[in-house]
Amino acid sequence: MLMKSKRRTKKAKKERTNEYIPGLAAFKFDPTEDWDAGKAQNLFETSVSKIKKTDAIRFEDCTLGMSKMPNECVDLVIADPPFGINFSNSEQLYNRDPEYVVSDYHEVDLNYGDFTLSWISKLPRLMKKTSSAYIFSGWNNLEYVLSAARDSGLTLLNHIIWTFQFGAFTQKKFVSSHYHILLYIKDPKAYYYNKIEHYPLDSWDLKRKYSRGESKNSTKLPLELVQKCIDFSSKPGDLVFDPFMGNGTTAVAAKGSYRHYYGFEINKNLKKTIDNNIKSTKLGSIYREYKTLKPTIEELKKKYPRAYKIHNNKEKSEED
Ligand SMILES: C[S@@+](CC[C@H](N)C(=O)[O-])C[C@H]1O[C@@H](n2cnc3c(N)ncnc32)[C@H](O)[C@@H]1O
Repeated sequence: MLMKSKRRTKKAKKERTNEYIPGLAAFKFDPTEDWDAGKAQNLFETSVSKIKKTDAIRFEDCTLGMSKMPNECVDLVIADPPFGINFSNSEQLYNRDPEYVVSDYHEVDLNYGDFTLSWISKLPRLMKKTSSAYIFSGWNNLEYVLSAARDSGLTLLNHIIWTFQFGAFTQKKFVSSHYHILLYIKDPKAYYYNKIEHYPLDSWDLKRKYSRGESKNSTKLPLELVQKCIDFSSKPGDLVFDPFMGNGTTAVAAKGSYRHYYGFEINKNLKKTIDNNIKSTKLGSIYREYKTLKPTIEELKKKYPRAYKIHNNKEKSEED
């Protein structure tokens, strides 16, 4: 009898040590890969590309341009295509001053399904095995993006929802204040993912910047959002490709993070805006070591008091 109850207590103790403690792992978390700024710059300067001239934007239709690119030449794709909704007639609804909106925003000439397949089907040839593609979509034409990517043989890794604080004013329906970001990979066995956060959620709540008195096309993404895609899915020195450069946000985020960029934009009127945006960005200016993004012990203690106690006791007993 005594033996049995001893065994039971032992078992209960073991179960207790294996118990899941929310937040405990966060105290021990480190990013998968991290580079100090010097190392990141060195990787940037020494990387080689199959593309003759990187850090360049070509002003042409991306479907034509992509056909001329070499096989397996890009490490990461960030694609924010026109969503197939008429923005140019709704600048006021979006609370944007038309004076600063660059003319000739290029919507889609073909039907949205054909347009989407025309560029997405070209991605797998250009992507390395390690490569990922973040594709932005509104909700209206999401089905075409999903089916084009599936028909092109890409694998959907995550369906991220980006929520922002304002959308077009509505009278008789909800204001749409989210985008879809579809994270695709070419090879489920080889894709690159740097886990720089302990608990990276697939819902991103990031503010849209409302920049007064700055000329831009009407659909500029926040730099922070593009940087997030770059940080999780590429290394310093990698080549980030954007078929729809718009204001050059991807180029700015890449240059600022010690990554190379390459891409297309059909609207030549955007050249000056893009050039200015890139020129005013210093190489590596937004780069930060990922360990600096970790929450402090004080923040973790506040969020997970029980895990903190256990973590602290463990640390102490390891020191003894
Ligand atoms: C949604 S905006 C991109 C905005 C960009 N992400 C930014 O943050 O500024 C889409 C861009 O794609 C361009 N575009 C449309 N069709 C294109 C095509 N076939 N090839 C290249 N660019 C195209 C439009 O002129 C527009 O600037």
